[in-house]
Amino acid sequence: MSRKLLLVVTAMLVVAVTAAGLYAYLSPQRGSANVAEGRGVIVAAPVGGAFTLVDHTGRTVTDETFRGRYLLVFFGFTNCPDVCPLALDRFAQVLELLGPDASMVQPALISVDPERDTPEALADYVAGFDKRILGLTGTPEQIAVVVKAYRAYARKDAAAGAGDYGVDHSSFEYLMGPDGQNVYVFTNEATPERIAEAIRSRLDA
Ligand code: NI
Repeated sequence: MSRKLLLVVTAMLVVAVTAAGLYAYLSPQRGSANVAEGRGVIVAAPVGGAFTLVDHTGRTVTDETFRGRYLLVFFGFTNCPDVCPLALDRFAQVLELLGPDASMVQPALISVDPERDTPEALADYVAGFDKRILGLTGTPEQIAVVVKAYRAYARKDAAAGAGDYGVDHSSFEYLMGPDGQNVYVFTNEATPERIAEAIRSRLDA
């Protein structure tokens, strides 16, 4: 190897090591059992908080109802044409992939269309995907509280007619820990396998 080439290779190595160090510094590992950020996964976002809602059986639930288990939750509505059915399909696949460990996870849909999404409407809807998925609704005020707590958003599409409207909404999926703190936020890029892997990494920790 010529002297010049050796210098170039050394310089490249220095740059690579520096970049790796910087990356490690910016993405601290929070325990080896945790799944790293990226590929649709955001680690421990400052979201969540107190809420009171009603589930699809008519039972009043709060954030404390889910303590001791993992809550996998997202915001949507039963008349949603595409995003919500895909998310619920994904939840059903995650449950399937988790097998017996699924008992540690409560998947739930919080309606951003409380006017149409009665407990009865939600019961019919979630049962079409997996009976273990919980539908949650409430008064418009109760929904506004939980949407804000999770830094989600929902806006009624005013363009359509009175009874036939859509609701534009965020599509993040949140994994809350047994203590009610956020563990992961998943985007649309997260596959069911990735979500199941992330949940399992916590269960095995
Ligand atoms: Ni939707």
